Amino acid sequence: MSVEIDLERLQESLLTKRFGKRVFFSREVNSTSDWAKELAKIGAEEGTVTVAQTQMAGRGRLGREWISPRGGLWFSIILRPDQKAHEAVKLVFVGSLAVAEVLHEKYGMRTETKWPNDVLVNGKKICGILAEMNTKCENVNYAILGVGINANFCAEDVLSESVKTTATSIQNELGKKIRLESLLKALLEKMERIYDTFVGAGFTSLLERWKRYAGFLGQRVVVTDQNEELNGLALNVDLEGALILKLEDGTTRRILVGDLVFGKC
Ligand code: BTN
Repeated sequence: MSVEIDLERLQESLLTKRFGKRVFFSREVNSTSDWAKELAKIGAEEGTVTVAQTQMAGRGRLGREWISPRGGLWFSIILRPDQKAHEAVKLVFVGSLAVAEVLHEKYGMRTETKWPNDVLVNGKKICGILAEMNTKCENVNYAILGVGINANFCAEDVLSESVKTTATSIQNELGKKIRLESLLKALLEKMERIYDTFVGAGFTSLLERWKRYAGFLGQRVVVTDQNEELNGLALNVDLEGALILKLEDGTTRRILVGDLVFGKC
């Protein structure tokens, strides 16, 4: 079984209107999101994809390093939603919902979404989404959705000490490698449909669907941002994409940016 991506075959088989109609592939780049940004700046159309075998400077949220060895699926897609920036910040949910559904439907994995941008399997991170945008007077000029999926490698063997205990991979979960090309095809098809719903009907239409995977809701969690650490019960995610946390003193807090870990009961 070939686990590599054959671009021609991918594009011939893709059942999308825009996503993946142009795909740029490289064995090695710094970051597929930086590459997509360069293409977006010179006018690349919506749906253009950059994909790489390895990233030398893969980026995660909040400026973190994203380790991207061969065997993972590292790609970014250029989006040009006709939206205000405050609406488009929720694109991250489009990405995580698409990944959660595809890994579940295609491979039978019990996926969960973890606010704000992760997909987990058996409590461990299998995918991270990075949503970035460029705006002009509150309107989105372009957005880049970067998707990193730990696929055909064993997480303990290749990831750094700091993440390997909380990360997993498709290979870890299924006990075998999968065809990256087939995964990318399924993701682009799913993502286009979810994105079209998001842009056409708004976030409300997706939120309930996203929450079906949100195993952290109703759980005790710890949320950290740069300034503080909050312990509480994850009550909900609202229409702005904010996490609603019930603190130990009974008050509730709306959190727009932060990192969530599961708390002790
Ligand atoms: C996170 O969990 O913090 C987000 C990780 C996003 C990683 C992907 S891999 C493809 C794209 N290129 C990058 O440099 N980052 C994203």
